[in-house]
Amino acid sequence: MIIMKEEQEQFMQEMFMKVGVSSEDARITAQSLTLADLRGVNSHGILRLPIYVQRLKRGLMANKPDIRIEKEDMTTAVMDGGNYIAQVTGRIAMRKAIEKASENTLGMVLVKNSNHFGAAAEYSIMAAKEGMIGIAASNTVPLMPPPGGKDKVVGNNPLAVSFPGGRYGIVSVDMAMSSVAQGKIRNAELNNREVPLGWGIDKEGKDTTNPRDILDGGFLLPTGGPKGYGLAIAIEILAAALSNSPVSKEVKSIYQLEEKLGISHMFLVINAKALIDQQDYNNRVETLLDIIKNCPAAYGIEEIYFPGEIEDNIMKDRLANGMVITREMELELDKLADELNVKRIKSFLKNRQLREGLV
Ligand SMILES: NC(=O)c1ccc[n+]([C@@H]2O[C@H](COP(=O)([O-])OP(=O)(O)OC[C@H]3O[C@@H](n4cnc5c(N)ncnc54)[C@H](O)[C@@H]3O)[C@@H](O)[C@H]2O)c1
Repeated sequence: MIIMKEEQEQFMQEMFMKVGVSSEDARITAQSLTLADLRGVNSHGILRLPIYVQRLKRGLMANKPDIRIEKEDMTTAVMDGGNYIAQVTGRIAMRKAIEKASENTLGMVLVKNSNHFGAAAEYSIMAAKEGMIGIAASNTVPLMPPPGGKDKVVGNNPLAVSFPGGRYGIVSVDMAMSSVAQGKIRNAELNNREVPLGWGIDKEGKDTTNPRDILDGGFLLPTGGPKGYGLAIAIEILAAALSNSPVSKEVKSIYQLEEKLGISHMFLVINAKALIDQQDYNNRVETLLDIIKNCPAAYGIEEIYFPGEIEDNIMKDRLANGMVITREMELELDKLADELNVKRIKSFLKNRQLREGLV
């Protein structure tokens, strides 16, 4: 099934409203998850809707905001997210960091008592759109062993750094500290696909291409071995330890419908205008990207991309041509829609022929 941005957003908004979220925050959450799908980050889009809805329904994630500022000064703040939807809290926190950076060059906001915030780039890009450098990071439930270990004690803590890129648009590095995000492995499992070697190991520590072996007692592996592991620890300290919050095994899994997650985030904004003349900055970054883009391509490669460029290209295409919802995903969404007494996703399609399966 092909779905357009607004159609998917409307469906998701209705689902969130059905479990008690205000119309405005349901819209923000729906837009945020849809933005991930639009940018090709399918691991963090509509795929996550069922688990978000289940958690809201069971009261494991608050459906009403109770966001409080615990500490604040000119450049920093610590917010208690009140276990509310992290996509909403994250936006409020990043907005605050941007305001602080526009007045004082730097802005850093930590959020504790939060939830899964989706794709990290969405927040860092907010700063880049304002001409500033944005950094967003979060801890997660532990999914990886430390080098040499055989227990899950390290989160695959995502980090996104976004920069204004002059005439190139926005440069945005966004990555999990595991070889890939867990959602990509879930996506492969849902669509009965194997995963490449190196994405994870089974519970015995053996290499596997079966997503189930990784998800059932196995482990994700850090990107770049000990280097990704080290960065994951750095994020854990910046986001969680610094905000006096749960770390490592104290953070709970989104898929265990028992407890709140206790996730923390860090948002950091640097106002580049305070450091360098705008024209000089653009000139330097454009020169860098010119050199990168002009790098000769290796055998079989058509184009060299800077970080975030592939996602931007996918977004242009998906805004024009829509996004694919696989049959497996559609069935899962139908089940959820029936359970909540919301119209099935197909009835949100504006094109009658598509709705009736005629094309
Ligand atoms: N909220 C959470 O708990 C959580 C946890 C993990 C990951 N995530 C999110 O999952 C998403 C996917 O993470 P991932 O690690 O699988 O990312 P990825 O491996 O798909 O991409 C990582 C980075 O590499 C760049 N890239 C990829 N191929 C490229 C190429 N050929 N040329 C140039 N650049 C290239 C991308 O632009 C991106 O910046 C991210 O949005 C991340 O924030 C969220």
